[in-house]
Amino acid sequence: MARNFLFPGARHVAVAAAAPTSGSRQVMRIAHRGASGYAPENTWAAFHKALELEVDMIELDVRRTRDHELVVCHDARLDRLTGNAVTLRELSFTELQQHQVGGQVIPRLADVLPALTDACEINVELKERGLAEAAAAVVKALNCHHRVLFSSFLSAELLRLKAIDPALRVAALLTSAPATVGTCLRFAQLVQAEAIVVSHSAFRKRLLTAAHRAGVKVFVWTVDDAEAIAHLKGLGVDGIMSNFPDLI
Ligand code: G3P
Ligand code: MG
Repeated sequence: MARNFLFPGARHVAVAAAAPTSGSRQVMRIAHRGASGYAPENTWAAFHKALELEVDMIELDVRRTRDHELVVCHDARLDRLTGNAVTLRELSFTELQQHQVGGQVIPRLADVLPALTDACEINVELKERGLAEAAAAVVKALNCHHRVLFSSFLSAELLRLKAIDPALRVAALLTSAPATVGTCLRFAQLVQAEAIVVSHSAFRKRLLTAAHRAGVKVFVWTVDDAEAIAHLKGLGVDGIMSNFPDLI
């Protein structure tokens, strides 16, 4: 059953009926940048390890090369990941292949999605402005939109995705910046998010309660501590994102 809610600045949005907040909910096990506690982040090795751990979802980060290829990489500059003081967007995709992360090439989004979406869902985090069109095109060409949940700190990208096709799934990504529960929910409703992805430090029980009342799921990132994971599961969060997803 669906209910309609009217939020300031947003049109009527159909959302799922509220689910009860309880410790009995099945929590989604989400691998952050792949199983990045065990293999170099956002690489095939990290994704294969996540599949081996039978996660429900893999989160990965997307940027664009100079020749407009969407690639899976967290950082704008490659210093931390490869030791090379270069900027990703100044490299072509071919040039980027020379800059390996822990011996692994930086993969293309268009190669990763078809290899993974049969086994688990993918949370595609758009790291740069102006990626929505290209990312939507990749997902639509592969016909895997039902297995992909987009997120971004850039709300314009989420709005753009929904404008391109309302069937594209999005999640509102919240930082540790202080925000009221009302602000969080209004943002989620504005971008028609099916989930709020909130940092562990910003997570509050009252946000979970309010989100569930509005039919919005809550995922918490990045939690690598077994006690904290157990606590969040007991509270009834819908998903936990970890570098060590076997802890979930
Ligand atoms: O999507 C949650 C998390 O991945 C956002 O932060 O910096 O790890 O991409 P970051
Ligand atoms: Mg991310």
